[in-house]
Amino acid sequence: MRVRAFAKINLSLRVLGMRADGYHELRTIFQSIALHDTLTIRASRGPFRLTCDDPACPADETNLIWRAAARMWAKAGRRGAPRGVAIDLAKRIPMQAGLGGGSSDAAAALRALAQRWRVGEAHVRDTAAALGADVPYFLEGGTVLGLERGDLLFPLIDVPAAWVVLVLPHFGVSTQDAFEWLDAFGVARGGDVPQEFLNDLEAPVVARHPGIGRIISALRREGASQAAMSGSGSAVFGLFSHRPDAVRAANRLSSAARRTLVTRTLNRQKYHRLAAT
Ligand code: C5P
Repeated sequence: MRVRAFAKINLSLRVLGMRADGYHELRTIFQSIALHDTLTIRASRGPFRLTCDDPACPADETNLIWRAAARMWAKAGRRGAPRGVAIDLAKRIPMQAGLGGGSSDAAAALRALAQRWRVGEAHVRDTAAALGADVPYFLEGGTVLGLERGDLLFPLIDVPAAWVVLVLPHFGVSTQDAFEWLDAFGVARGGDVPQEFLNDLEAPVVARHPGIGRIISALRREGASQAAMSGSGSAVFGLFSHRPDAVRAANRLSSAARRTLVTRTLNRQKYHRLAAT
């Protein structure tokens, strides 16, 4: 069985304040994009195994796929560590980029293993939220409003289809670091600026990585209708109505310090249709 795990961008990410549980209160709009990892799940004798074609990706118990498998196994009422399944991960979503790759892989693993081990939908949802704030979104897909930790979800009418230029610097940003930099920057100011499409993590991350700010400006100069950092970065996206404009911008912005790629938004219906290959 093969499943696709699609990436996301955040069309908007407002940080409204600090929560009692140490997380930040968010108001974000998630959007699925066609860029994806692929998980191949097969029956295998012995303990659960995870392999990944990218040596930089940890394939041990720290990987969210592994943790998803351990929790699903327990929810299926089985004892000990998971067995009988091997997962091969073809990693295409860059890591530490703010594109949700690890969370999407986890959600894809949850869906596939729940089917295999006959675990109910309610358990899948609970487990998703326990694995990470972004994981529940990947059970939904399309254009979705996320409140609280980003895990209280309200599906929206899908935004009009757009071409997405991703600019990927050769460095990553840890999500935890980005939120700490925001806290050090002063109070979260999200609530008082009546602008829908902003990323409140952008300024504190750009203060450490000025190159990200230059990429956002360059994408706007190239004609992007919207350009912003995705999540906690380091990826920057630009939206374009026409593919040739997106391709031209991607070509002009690629350099020795960063890679670019062109992808497109995915609506909810396509997200679910394409998820199982
Ligand atoms: O939930 P997840 O493990 O993906 O979050 C990674 C880190 O990002 C958290 O440990 C926390 O520091 C930060 N975070 C936050 N507020 C959120 C989501 C994430 O502070 N709503």
